[in-house]
Amino acid sequence: MIINGKDWRTIWLREDGVSVGVIDQTKLPYEFKTCVLRSSEDAAKAIKYMIVRGAPLIGVTGAYGLMLAIQKDSSDTSIIYAKKHLESTRPTAINLSWALERVSKKVLPLPQTQRRDAAREEAALIAQEDISVCESIGGYGLQILKDISERSSKGTQEPINILTHCNAGWLATVDWGTALAPIYKAHRSGLKVHVWVDETRPRNQGAALTAFELACEGISHTVIVDNAGGYLMQMGKVDAVIVGTDRTTRAGDVCNKIGTYLKALAAKDNSVPFYVALPKSTLDWTLIDGITDIPIEIRSEKEVSNIRGQLIQEDKKKEIVDVSLFPLSSRAFNPAFDVTQSRLITAFITEIGILEPNENSLRRLS
Ligand code: MRU
Repeated sequence: MIINGKDWRTIWLREDGVSVGVIDQTKLPYEFKTCVLRSSEDAAKAIKYMIVRGAPLIGVTGAYGLMLAIQKDSSDTSIIYAKKHLESTRPTAINLSWALERVSKKVLPLPQTQRRDAAREEAALIAQEDISVCESIGGYGLQILKDISERSSKGTQEPINILTHCNAGWLATVDWGTALAPIYKAHRSGLKVHVWVDETRPRNQGAALTAFELACEGISHTVIVDNAGGYLMQMGKVDAVIVGTDRTTRAGDVCNKIGTYLKALAAKDNSVPFYVALPKSTLDWTLIDGITDIPIEIRSEKEVSNIRGQLIQEDKKKEIVDVSLFPLSSRAFNPAFDVTQSRLITAFITEIGILEPNENSLRRLS
């Protein structure tokens, strides 16, 4: 995607061929900064502290992290240790273990002298595949948006209104995004779209990242508080919801950012179609029941008790600050994801087409 006239991906192998560049998402939307990962420890920290985030990007960073470990020491012990360590950074998105498994399966059968090049090739392939998968999701999703626009009583001159939660745009992947890819395709093809952006407390990935992406692309959007979506649906102001997923079971239960479930309930109650953009890398075929089986990441209380923003001082100096929101003696609870059961989902937008939310249909993807 284009930022300040330059085409960016969220992660890349640097020119030296041995280190990895990433966009530092903890600084957005205030500053656009990149940082360098030189070791698997750097990659693990980047995932853990959410310098990179979003299920597909976490997976690609894991793959490059394993490559960095192999560059240093290509023994079985080092690979197994690094894989475990990287895997432990964030528990919910399945893409992380999927990508680590792919790289280690590729390199472990090889002699040590060949492992470094093989890891580099596999990580690059995973990144490249992510881009084409997301672009295909965009293409299939565009067809859905065109159909909605054509069926709309408002006519095609009025924008269709899409609501999205969290950030499932290009910042959550290598490029294009999952849930936002259809919106980018629609905008570029001249279809009028407007996006309701859930701010997505506690870390505000919607307000900070989705809004940043849409603004860079010149797409009409409005940030709303997380609780406004139901009201907007009741008022007929949402034509469709599109969200991403961090892990999807074979039965079609979807685990995504906390609050996704409530959007799905409101959508069902108001007959608003609820779509999930699902790359194959996010499908966990070993699980059936999302509510009982998917590990939910519980994050720090501080993300709830504090909020981060930019302070603009009188002399116009800008500073990123954390402010506290409630009594220091009060406790907070911070589950980062929830599960939306397949019965609440209209369809999956995947790289092979639109799939019904059930095991039979998902089998085509697996
Ligand atoms: O905690 P995050 O910011 O990594 O959560 C990201 C999400 O919940 C996204 O919606 C999800 O990864 C799907 S992304 C394509």
